[in-house]
Amino acid sequence: MKDKPDKKILEKCIAHPLFRVISGVSSDLSVPAYVVGGYVRDCLLGRDNPSQDIDIVVLGKGIEAARETARRLKPSPRVSVFKNFGTAMFRYKDIEVDFVGARRESYRQDSRKPVVEDGTLEDDQKRRDFTINALAIALHPDEHGTFIDPFDGLEDLRKKIIRTPLDPKVTFSDDPLRMLRAIRFATQLDFRIEEETFRAIYRNRRRIRIVSMERITTELNKIMLAPRPSTGFLLLDRSGLLEEILPEIHALKGIEKRKGMAHKDVFLHTIQVLDNVAKKSDNLWLRWAALLHDIAKPATKKFVEGQGWTFHGHDFLGSKMVPRIFRRLKLPMNEKMKYVQKLVALHLRPIALTTNEVSDSAVRRLLFEAGDDIEDLMLLCEADITSKNEKKVKKHLENFRVVREKLKTIEEKDAVRNFQPPVTGEDIMQTFDIPPSRTIGILKEAIKEAILEGTIHNDRQEAYQYMIEQAKKLGLEVKKNLIKEEG
Ligand code: CTP
Repeated sequence: MKDKPDKKILEKCIAHPLFRVISGVSSDLSVPAYVVGGYVRDCLLGRDNPSQDIDIVVLGKGIEAARETARRLKPSPRVSVFKNFGTAMFRYKDIEVDFVGARRESYRQDSRKPVVEDGTLEDDQKRRDFTINALAIALHPDEHGTFIDPFDGLEDLRKKIIRTPLDPKVTFSDDPLRMLRAIRFATQLDFRIEEETFRAIYRNRRRIRIVSMERITTELNKIMLAPRPSTGFLLLDRSGLLEEILPEIHALKGIEKRKGMAHKDVFLHTIQVLDNVAKKSDNLWLRWAALLHDIAKPATKKFVEGQGWTFHGHDFLGSKMVPRIFRRLKLPMNEKMKYVQKLVALHLRPIALTTNEVSDSAVRRLLFEAGDDIEDLMLLCEADITSKNEKKVKKHLENFRVVREKLKTIEEKDAVRNFQPPVTGEDIMQTFDIPPSRTIGILKEAIKEAILEGTIHNDRQEAYQYMIEQAKKLGLEVKKNLIKEEG
């Protein structure tokens, strides 16, 4: 006999009051109803961060069942109906509940168009992506709590295996995004992709091109947010999907050797940096910065005689590449993108501050440029240390600890992290009685530079005095009546 989860566990999975209402509707409308998919999977896995969405399969009258369920809930949610798909959904207390009628697609010999007919539960289950996502629990009172698992999904759940219920070729041609979902689930859950399934991903990798970028990026972000994203990137690489969806990352692969000198594999280094960052922060955008920090290394790579491999300017060029990559991936082009750009641009700067004779002004400049993202920048820099030599790692970490101290001391003294010009454009116009013009920008810039250089303190009076001196050089005099007023 096939293994089943403990009855108590199954009961617990359908203990939410919503299921009681659905059971009642299923009984009153005389239609069998089942909870399937991610909800059942996560419940059996006891996941800390379970799927909040509930998928209900109804054998006939799916839309009616959704409407009736919503009507019985207090407060009654509004139901969205998608007639063409025979589906309906509503949101109830942060939970999205989807109702689908079980359907079967069959192909008639005289037509290539599938005919959609009402189907059985198993018809529905076999059209799903993976065996672990095709588990169902019955809700109708006659079979309440019965576990239905025609493809041994429970066994796969226990063995930690991602496998398609049908021939993977069929499952993936239904929706090629599932190839990426296989990798996403393997990464999130730390599962292994079964061999036949994995081979099919490799063979069908080019079919990912027909999937919309938005759907691809949703999966990529889930891989990025997993506890160990490198697992996903190694699978993406081995399956050939990396080259399809992230050619810039694929280009980081490999090492080159000349005159006995090899550089490290930037791809392997990058995904280790990503894992290191993931251990310290849940910030998706910091993780994207980690993924892209060395993105311009292939384009800037040079072998310099007597020096070895260099990547001069990869920080600057890398930051220039970020918008293009974000646009193509349909990632937001707003301040999130600017944040990633900034971290890529600045990722070498803290290293420059590790020398003993570093000036206060260099520290001030970095604080000014990084602003509130200075802490994230330091996390990225520390994550960037991937040497296998423990002594080296220790030394670099100690250096960064000293940099953090310098940053703290200077910020306490000069407060340039959230720099607000101590003298405004308005002040300048009034003082010299001049209209808006380029001169104002020049003076403001001169004041900012003087503060960052340490020529003056970040203080209104000093800045005002400095402004008058600088303005004099430009031939500007303080307005007459202002001298009287002030003096
Ligand atoms: N599904 C599928 N093929 C897809 C997407 C989804 O077969 N391309 C099915 C699976 O049975 C899945 C269910 O629809 O379990 C719900 O999909 P979704 O909400 O995207 O994923 P979950 O499995 O719920 O997982 P998560 O919440 O982590 O995204």
